[in-house]
Amino acid sequence: MTEISTSMSRYVLDHPRLKYVFFGGKGGVGKTVLAGVTARWFADQGKRTILASTNPVHSLSGLLDQNVYGKPTAVNGVPNLWAYEIDTKETIERSKTDIKQKIQYFLKFAEISTQADAFVESATMNPAFEESAMFENMVELMFKNEYDAYVFDTAPTANARRLLGMSKVYSLWVNKMVKSRQEAQSLRELLSFTKKKEEDPLMEYLLNFRERMEQARLLLTDKEQTAFFFITLPEALPIAVIKRFINWFHDFGIPVGGVIVNGVIQKNEVQANSPEFVKNRVAMQDGYMDEIWRDFDGDVRAVIPLLDDEVRGTDALKRVAQYAFV
Ligand SMILES: Nc1ncnc2c1ncn2[C@@H]1O[C@H](COP(=O)(O)OP(=O)(O)OP(=O)(O)O)[C@@H](O)[C@H]1O
Ligand SMILES: [Mg+2]
Repeated sequence: MTEISTSMSRYVLDHPRLKYVFFGGKGGVGKTVLAGVTARWFADQGKRTILASTNPVHSLSGLLDQNVYGKPTAVNGVPNLWAYEIDTKETIERSKTDIKQKIQYFLKFAEISTQADAFVESATMNPAFEESAMFENMVELMFKNEYDAYVFDTAPTANARRLLGMSKVYSLWVNKMVKSRQEAQSLRELLSFTKKKEEDPLMEYLLNFRERMEQARLLLTDKEQTAFFFITLPEALPIAVIKRFINWFHDFGIPVGGVIVNGVIQKNEVQANSPEFVKNRVAMQDGYMDEIWRDFDGDVRAVIPLLDDEVRGTDALKRVAQYAFV
C-alpha cells in the first residue's frame, strides 16, 4: 500500500483518552518539531496541553522562541498550551541529598560506622542516575495530573527506551530491597527485648517508590492513554533506527502509535529542468518510501514535506500541523 490508512488525527479520534504522547527517532529527524506541532494541535483542539522536555540539552525554548526553562510556562499567543524544559540539574542535586539521608539512615540501621559520602558518590556518579532523575521528573509531571495532554520531546530514543524499561528494572530492584529490609527488620525485632515495631523510613520510601513505579508502568503501557510515535526521514539510517526501536517497544509492551515520515521532497515541485542533485535525492527518496510503505504498512500516520525553511515559532508549528494532522 502507498497511502495512509490511519492518519494522525484518525488515530487520536480512535483513542479519545490519549493523554501521554512521546516522540522517538534518530537524532535530528524532527522529534522536537513534531512534539511542538502535536502539542499545538492538541491545544488548538481545546485540550489543556503541556509540551515538556526532560533532555539535559533542551530545545523547546529555541523552538518556541521563548524561555520555558525551569517551570511550566504559558506559550505566548497559544491558548491552552504550556511548555516546560525540566531542570535536570536541580533534580539530580535534590535526589543526591535525598539519597544521602537514606544511606546515612541505612548505615546507622545496619550499625556500620562509615561516611555516607563515598556511597552517595558511587550511587550518583553514573549516567544511569541522570536518566533515572529524568524519568522521575517525567513521572512526577504525569502524576500531578494538571493537564489533559502531555507531549514529551524525549531524549534520543535509546534513552527513552531505557527510561521506560527502567520502570521494570526499578520494580525488581525495589522488590529485592524491600525483601531484604523485611528480613533485617524481623531479625532486629526478634533480637530486641521490647518487640515494639520500629519506624523504618527507608522501608517506607522503598514501598512508596515501588508503588509510584508500578503506577508509572501502568500509565506507560496503557494503550488508550499512551502512544509513542516514531519519526523517520526517507533515508536508510533513520529507518533502521526506528525499526529497532519499534521492536524493543513491542517487547516492553509500550504502545507504538505509529510512524511519521518527515522531510519528504515534494515530487510535484521537481521538474525536468530541476538540478541533478534534486533529481538524485528524489530517486533515493522513492526507494526508501517503497521500503517505508512495505515495512510499516498500516502504521504510517503522516508524511511531512521538506519545507524550504527550518521550523521555528508557533505559527510554523500550526503550518506543519496541516501536514501532520490532515
Ligand atoms: N519538515 C521539515 N522541513 C524543514 N525543516 C525541518 C523539517 N522538520 C524539521 N526541520 C528542521 O530540522 C532540524 C531538526 O529538527 P528537530 O530539532 O525537531 O530534530 P530532533 O529530532 O528533535 O533533533 P535532536 O535529535 O537533535 O533532538 C530543525 O532545524 C528543524 O527546524
Ligand atoms: Mg530534539
